[in-house]
Amino acid sequence: MRIDVITIFPEMFEGPFGASITKRAVEKGILDIHLTNFRDYSFDKHHHVDDSPFGGGAGMVLKPEPMYRAVRDVLAKSAAFEGHRRVLIMDPSGPTFTQEKAKELAQYEQLVFICGHYEGFDARIYGLADEAVSIGDYVLTGGELPAMVVTDAVSRMLPGVLGDAESAPTDSFYDGLLGYPQYTRPREFEGQSVPDVLISGDHAKIRQWRREQALLATKRWRPDLLEKAQISEKERAWLDVQGNIYAEDSKNHP
Ligand code: ADE
Repeated sequence: MRIDVITIFPEMFEGPFGASITKRAVEKGILDIHLTNFRDYSFDKHHHVDDSPFGGGAGMVLKPEPMYRAVRDVLAKSAAFEGHRRVLIMDPSGPTFTQEKAKELAQYEQLVFICGHYEGFDARIYGLADEAVSIGDYVLTGGELPAMVVTDAVSRMLPGVLGDAESAPTDSFYDGLLGYPQYTRPREFEGQSVPDVLISGDHAKIRQWRREQALLATKRWRPDLLEKAQISEKERAWLDVQGNIYAEDSKNHP
């Protein structure tokens, strides 16, 4: 997948994209990341990218011309991806990013991220994008961190990015449920022991226990997810009669 980020702070991406699984995905050739500084597309003497808002008010607004030039240049340079790409504008007023959206975006061959800064975008900049994406109901100083978050979540959905040991099907949200509790050695730690079923060697039983735990955890911590989760009628009926296995002040959040 080709990733293009259009930003005035390309250096912000060096750390997150140069480490861990993203770095490995780049080395394997699964991700091809291109950073474009749209200040380079501002042709006035001081390379301004923002200006004061028409109608008055505080703050600065990103000008349309540098962004239009930058995005058009990126799209022209990667014309081979036409019809297989999505242009995303990072914006707190967009629909909230979800695991489902990550899976959907993973189907494209190119993602282009438009990252703004300051008070906002000139409204005409939205015309460049296929859709807006917010990563949550809070305002960050720019779209760079959201672009990194989306790239990270999307890239781990791509075949070959995760090794077997990191595989996605055990993730929280994979089937619309939270994950089940995981344990490793030692079996006994400060009076807390690993559930016997996990040491039983009975894989059918372990699978069932994990499924039940995922259902119970979701009911306890994120009941809002149950409505849309992939759960059978039988499981729903079972869950309806289950009490809360987590104490009110439980720290055992899976
Ligand atoms: N830019 C500033 N805040 C943002 C958010 N929460 N999501 C996406 N883009 C943003």
